[in-house]
Amino acid sequence: MRSAAEMAEWIQNESKMVDELSGRLCKAAACIPTENLSGWLDDLRGQFERFRAHYQKHMALEEGGGCLAPVLEQWPELTGEVEHLRSEHREIGVLMKAIYDELCDLSPDQPLTMLDCCRRIRNLMEIINHHTDRENLILSLAFSRDVGTSD
Ligand SMILES: [Fe+2]
Repeated sequence: MRSAAEMAEWIQNESKMVDELSGRLCKAAACIPTENLSGWLDDLRGQFERFRAHYQKHMALEEGGGCLAPVLEQWPELTGEVEHLRSEHREIGVLMKAIYDELCDLSPDQPLTMLDCCRRIRNLMEIINHHTDRENLILSLAFSRDVGTSD
């Protein structure tokens, strides 16, 4: 099992990478340009796919040795909270796939669908931020118990 310090470092690095990718994606989805819609759509698809690929791996790592499995091993009383986070991972994966499929079908002559898609991306980011806040809360609870028992 990773130490609390190793886990904190991994979470911090991952968090920076997710923030960077989501920042670029949010910027791309912030507004629909009036010219070169085709180029903008290609860029948005690319940004979304980079974010999705990274976040999918990020969730898999969290569930494996990253943090959730070790937390469960050490603190089985947090099973309900960890299962809830795992369930949210599955839902986030489904939402990301649905948005990506829609992005792939989009063409520049569908302004309303583009608008809808951008809103769904922003909504997904809010969901992910909320999920991350809950996850960090549970991890900090586990870390504080770790610190409390190792003294
Ligand atoms: Fe997570």
